[in-house]
Amino acid sequence: MVDDSFQGKPATKMAEIVRTEDGSDTLYVRELDEHYHSVHGAIQESEHIFINSGFNFSKADPVRILEIGFGTGLNALLTCIHAERLNKKVSYTSIEKYPLQPETTSSLNYPDILKGDSRRLFEKIHGCNWNSFVQISGNFKLNKIEGDLLSLNIEGTFDLVYFDAFGPDKQPEMWSDDIFNGIGAATCRNGILVTYSVKGSVRRSLKRSGFNITLLPGPPGKRHILRAIKS
Ligand SMILES: C[S@@+](CC[C@H](N)C(=O)[O-])C[C@H]1O[C@@H](n2cnc3c(N)ncnc32)[C@H](O)[C@@H]1O
Repeated sequence: MVDDSFQGKPATKMAEIVRTEDGSDTLYVRELDEHYHSVHGAIQESEHIFINSGFNFSKADPVRILEIGFGTGLNALLTCIHAERLNKKVSYTSIEKYPLQPETTSSLNYPDILKGDSRRLFEKIHGCNWNSFVQISGNFKLNKIEGDLLSLNIEGTFDLVYFDAFGPDKQPEMWSDDIFNGIGAATCRNGILVTYSVKGSVRRSLKRSGFNITLLPGPPGKRHILRAIKS
């Protein structure tokens, strides 16, 4: 299956669904030679980095989350499920330049794996309007913003940032001082940023933007991940 939402866009033209080692799907972008998630396990990676090291670590309740790169909506779905489990209120803002086609998102196998109420939630997450808050479940409201992070003014204040752009080697402009300064300004004191890249340039850039960095053990296939706290 091939998604041509990226048609005509130079960086990312087409994405195809591929199965990762934990049985969950991800997308592969041939033009960038880049996957949306770890090929060692998409759900496993999202749970490890964004849920366990970010959402479960944050003491904020309600918690205001900013995600960079909505993509398949997997991080949003997992956060919604955990928000209901923990009975924690979440306001989730996610920025995406290239929304996927419904044909693609409806073919992803996350609901088959996560079971429970996940199909209904996933459909609502993808079916809801962009650019305004929509209540997805009792505890979880979502604002999908269609826009380019590189030219967007990030509005609001956030307790937790899921930084899930394509890798710094593939899209270095997404990991620049300018971007991290903007995110830093929108992150509250003691707010948390989690990401999968521990590259030296990323760490230095985050430090310059007022974050203190901790490296944590990574999911299978990755030695470390990064958690940063805003000073
Ligand atoms: C690693 S994938 C995101 C994975 C996503 N969090 C998920 O769970 O599927 C990176 C995402 O960043 C998006 N992206 C690329 N350039 C962007 C830009 N300039 N502004 C906003 N989003 C961008 C891509 O379209 C892609 O969806």
